[in-house]
Amino acid sequence: MESLGLRAVGSHCSLSEMDDLDLNRALLDRPRLKIERKRSFDERSMSELSRHDSPRGRSVLDTPLSSARNSFEPHPMMAEAWEALRRSMVFFRGLPVGTLAAVDNTTDEVLNYDQVFVRDFVPSALAFLMNGESDIVKHFLLKTLQLQDSEKRVDRFKLGKGVMPASFKVSHDPIRETDHLVADFGETAIGRVAPVDSGFWWIILLRAYTKSTGDLTLSETPECQKGMKLILSLCLAEGFDTFPTLLCADGCSMIDRRMGVYGYPIEIQALFYMALRCALSMLKPDGDGRECIEKITKRLHALSFHMRNYFWLDYQQLNDIYRYKTEEYSHTAVNKFNVMPDSIPDWVFDFMPLRGGYFVGNVGPAHMDFRWFALGNCVSIMSSLATPDQSMAIMDLLEHRWDELVGEMPLKICYPCLEGHEWRIVTGCDPKNTRWSYHNGGSWPVLLWQLTAACIKTGRPQIARRAVDLIESRLHRDCWPEYYDGKLGRYVGKQARKYQTWSIAGYLVAKMLLEDPSHIGMISLEEDKLMKPVIKRSASWPQL
Ligand code: GLC
Repeated sequence: MESLGLRAVGSHCSLSEMDDLDLNRALLDRPRLKIERKRSFDERSMSELSRHDSPRGRSVLDTPLSSARNSFEPHPMMAEAWEALRRSMVFFRGLPVGTLAAVDNTTDEVLNYDQVFVRDFVPSALAFLMNGESDIVKHFLLKTLQLQDSEKRVDRFKLGKGVMPASFKVSHDPIRETDHLVADFGETAIGRVAPVDSGFWWIILLRAYTKSTGDLTLSETPECQKGMKLILSLCLAEGFDTFPTLLCADGCSMIDRRMGVYGYPIEIQALFYMALRCALSMLKPDGDGRECIEKITKRLHALSFHMRNYFWLDYQQLNDIYRYKTEEYSHTAVNKFNVMPDSIPDWVFDFMPLRGGYFVGNVGPAHMDFRWFALGNCVSIMSSLATPDQSMAIMDLLEHRWDELVGEMPLKICYPCLEGHEWRIVTGCDPKNTRWSYHNGGSWPVLLWQLTAACIKTGRPQIARRAVDLIESRLHRDCWPEYYDGKLGRYVGKQARKYQTWSIAGYLVAKMLLEDPSHIGMISLEEDKLMKPVIKRSASWPQL
C-alpha cells in the first residue's frame, strides 16, 4: 500500500479540467499560493506572536495567503489552533495518517477519543489541504482503504465488504518494534452500529484531495477505484426499497447514539448525494466502472427529485401538510406517505418564517421528523442537492432563527431538543443526550466549517463571520470543547472533551475559507443542470 502511495505522483490535471466549480470564475482564478509557500502560518511560533504589542500584530500574523490580498489579519487563535492540530497528529511507521479525536489532558477518561475517526478527520484533512500539506491526507486515504479490506464481524455476522471504519487506532508493539492498525467498524462502538457516513466522507475527501492537489493518480489507482465501488455497492444494490433514499439504523453517523434518526435521516441522504456526485467525477468508465456510473446517474436523478420534493419544508409546504387529507390510495395521492397533520409539532408553526425553509430531518411512511439538522442542511447546500432557491431559503431561515440555531455558540446540531416523555421514548432515556445537550440540541463548534462553506457557496460570508466572531470569543478560552449545552449554547458541554480536534480544525477551515473563498471548490459541487428541479414551488417565498 505504501508503494501505491509513492506511485501516486506525476500526472496532474489542471483544475479547470476537473468537474465543477461553482464560484464565479474571477474568484477562482486568483493565484493560489500553496505548495510554493516557504513557511506556513502555523510554523510561526507563539513567541513570535507575543513579541508584538497588539494581540493581532499585523506583520507577524500576515499569512502567505493573506499576502495575496494584503488585508487579512489572522486572529492569534489561529496559531494556537495549528499547534493543537499538529499535536493531535497520529503516525504509522513514521508517516502521518490522521489526527486523534481529542487530546484532552484534563481527564483520564479517554474512552475512544484516542482514535482517528474518519468523520472527525475530514476538517483536519481540509485544513491540511488548504495549507498545502496533502501527504497526511493521502496516507489517511490509503490506510483506511487498506482497513476496508479487512474482515469485519459483529459476533457471527459478517459486515459488507465496502464498510469503512468509524475509527482506527495505531497500536505499537514494543517487542517487535512495529506499528499496526486496529479498526472499529461498529463492532466495538456504543450501540454496535456501522458508520454509514464514513464511506461517504472517504469519497468526498478523495475528491477534495484530488481537487486541491490536481493529482489524479491517487483516485485513478485500481485500489481507489475499487474502494469507491465497494462503498457504492452497499448503497446501490437492488432490494425492497420504494424510495431512492438510503434506509439506515439509528446512530450511524455523527449522531452515533439513539436519537430517533433511523429511517431516512437527512445527514445520510445529503452525504449520500454528495458522495455519489463526487464518485461520478472520479470513476473511470471501464469495465464495472461503466455500470456503476449508470447506476449512480439514475440514483442521483431519483434522489434529488425525492429530496427536493418530499424533504423540503417552507411556509407554503407546511401549510399544505397542515391541510393534508389522509388515507389516500393510488397514484393520485397528494399525501403520498400518509403523514398525519396531527403529528406536526406545535413548535414548527412558530419556527417557520414566511421567508425561508429547510430540509426536514426524516421522511418515511406516516413519518415526518420536523427537526432541523445542521449538517444535512449545510451539506445539501455544498453538494447542490438544494436548488439555488432552496439554498437561499436555508440561509434565510438561519438568519431569521439565529437565536435558536446559533445563539451564543455555533452551531446547534439539531433543533429543537427532545424533552420529557419524548426524550424517554426516543433516546431510550440516554443520560448523555438530555435536553439541549450533546446530540440533543447541543451546540457543536465543528459545524462552523460546514456553515462557513454554505455561507460562501450562497454568497453570504457575513453570516459566517458573525459565527466566527462568536467562536473566537470563547473557544480558545474554554480549551476547544467538543460541544456546548443549553438553549443558547452558553455552557461547556456536560461531558464535553477539551481540545477536541475537530473543533480546532473546523475553526481553521472556516477561517481559511473566509480568507480565500476559492478553497470552496474542494468541498462544493455546482448545480447539475441535468437535474434541474421539476417543480418550481420549492422557493421559500410564499405565493400568497
Ligand atoms: C462522538 C460523536 C461522533 C464523533 C466522536 C469522536 O461519539 O458523536 O460524531 O465522531 O465523538 O469525536
